[in-house]
Amino acid sequence: MATGARSFMSLLFILFAWLHTIDLCQSASVNENSYVQDACSVTQYQDLCVHSLASFSNTAMRSPSKWARAGVSVTIGEAKTVNQYLIRLKNHYYRRLRGRNRVALLDCMETFQDTIDQLHKSLGILRKLSAANFESQMGDLTTFMSAALTDENTCLDGFEGQRGGGAQVNLLKNRVLNATYLTSNALALVNKLATSGLNSLTDP
Ligand SMILES: *[C@@H]1O[C@H](CO)[C@@H](O)[C@H](O)[C@H]1NC(C)=O
Repeated sequence: MATGARSFMSLLFILFAWLHTIDLCQSASVNENSYVQDACSVTQYQDLCVHSLASFSNTAMRSPSKWARAGVSVTIGEAKTVNQYLIRLKNHYYRRLRGRNRVALLDCMETFQDTIDQLHKSLGILRKLSAANFESQMGDLTTFMSAALTDENTCLDGFEGQRGGGAQVNLLKNRVLNATYLTSNALALVNKLATSGLNSLTDP
């Protein structure tokens, strides 16, 4: 009997510990969620923003500079994925493309290189934000991010109204479009940083 009671108590203990853990996890994820929701409220594509940046909640919390950095980093990651897809398309499907799709693909590869370049320059600025140069840094940042967005749209324009690209080109267009959404979101986070001003520089 005594053994039975002891195991019953252990079971209860485990049950409570387990419930407590669930409770802790839930309140943690609610907090994380509200940080990312809050940060993403300034963006145009909020669902994508929350989905792509949720994992930064713990570290970025309420820091506009960290959110801007997270937004640009994620955009770089996606831009590199798109770039790899462009290269695959060029190597394996180029000869099957019809009409202006070939020219559009080559142009897109070129503009996408510039997109990645502009995004890297933006990240470079975000990595060394300084009070003394804040104004000019924000000016450069918005210029670079806007240029990245323009490049992506230029890529899309090339395929406009073209048939004969097949499923591969449709997939490419969707991916580039997705990259423009991420870039637009990152630009909004950068603008938020610029308007929050120097006081928001929590990281040295
Ligand atoms: C859009 O980008 C996000 C973030 O990198 C990615 O998770 C998602 O799969 C992309 N969607 C499409 C349609 O490419």
